[in-house]
Amino acid sequence: MNSSDLTIAIVGATGAVGRIALELLADRNHPAEKIVAMASSRSAGKKVTYANTELTVVEATPDAFNGTDVAFISASSEVSKRLAPEAVSRGALVIDDGSAFRMEESVPLVVPEVNGVDVEWHEGIISIPNCTTTPLVMVLDALRAISPMTAVTVSTYQSVTGTGAAAEIELLTQSRAVLDSEDVVIEQYPHQIAFNVLPQVDDFLSNGYTKEEDKMLNESRKILHEPGLRLSSTCVRVPVQVSHSESVAVEFQDAVSPEEARDALAKTAGIVLVDEPGNSVYPMPLKAAGADEVFVGRIRTDIAHDTGLSLWLSCDNLRKGAALNALQILDEVLKRNVLKPSRQAANSRA
Ligand SMILES: NC(=O)c1ccc[n+]([C@@H]2O[C@H](COP(=O)([O-])OP(=O)(O)OC[C@H]3O[C@@H](n4cnc5c(N)ncnc54)[C@H](OP(=O)(O)O)[C@@H]3O)[C@@H](O)[C@H]2O)c1
Repeated sequence: MNSSDLTIAIVGATGAVGRIALELLADRNHPAEKIVAMASSRSAGKKVTYANTELTVVEATPDAFNGTDVAFISASSEVSKRLAPEAVSRGALVIDDGSAFRMEESVPLVVPEVNGVDVEWHEGIISIPNCTTTPLVMVLDALRAISPMTAVTVSTYQSVTGTGAAAEIELLTQSRAVLDSEDVVIEQYPHQIAFNVLPQVDDFLSNGYTKEEDKMLNESRKILHEPGLRLSSTCVRVPVQVSHSESVAVEFQDAVSPEEARDALAKTAGIVLVDEPGNSVYPMPLKAAGADEVFVGRIRTDIAHDTGLSLWLSCDNLRKGAALNALQILDEVLKRNVLKPSRQAANSRA
């Protein structure tokens, strides 16, 4: 089946991820009449730009999914939990951007370059990972082919669009207020984000880690099919508009040289090496924003660990971290001819 024959619903079409999903579909020349832009009742009747035309937003209700082949849901966990089963029961495949279903056993969690095969056992819903997990597992998957990983330590530098459109406005508004010596209004985060760095992304758990850090661990284990993977992260919000960056230290069973790592990463689909530190050439969020790839550099032997390697990556959280990965999942589904759940998956649900 050709993807342009499909009727596609974008739930969250007015949001940060939904807007990029529309942009990507327009780049693929998906017919405007086969796109249904959905959002909350607040946005019903509003217009969103699609290629050189406009789409009218409709309220995302269960019946709005009648006739939908594929629903991309980029709203909130509550919306996904309420509407995804409704869309599935009306015959749609749901590709969900949120965390509502990611760890459910019956839901594949997919980064096509890593575990595309997992789309084959979907039962109507496929999840995409958190925007910090996606670039990380792409890099780890390429490196573990050289030697098995024994531990991974990550620090993230996450942009405000990872929180959504309102947080981007807050960063800009606060920045202007600081420059104009006016009072700063704080709504999206526990503290001011402009000219600051917050070592907290999401709520804290009893073990001292945050939910975001917990997601990175559990989602990486599921995607890489490594339930025993040892991974510790510190997730940090930084005053950057778009693109997350990560400092990654990997320990391997056997030493992996920077040259071996560079060779493996350079051959990996979706990864681009940007690694000329002598010329101050390395990945940066400003350069990654608007691009589809994961950019990797600063690859070096970790002097604190005999078999360790350190590196740095940047990736557009709204594209490969969200909307692009979701569209690539649809490509994978169509390539493998599994738009509808396979009989085996349907039987296992019965
Ligand atoms: N931002 C990222 O980098 C990123 C990456 C990976 C995954 N995700 C996930 O993607 C989802 C959306 O994130 P975002 O950053 O795009 O958030 P956002 O900018 O805040 O947008 C939220 C969208 O959800 C819609 N919405 C809210 N309540 C709704 C309802 N009751 N029914 C239908 N639509 C409703 C909003 O519509 P209104 O305009 O009508 O309120 C808006 O279009 C979240 O689950 C997030 O975890 C985000």
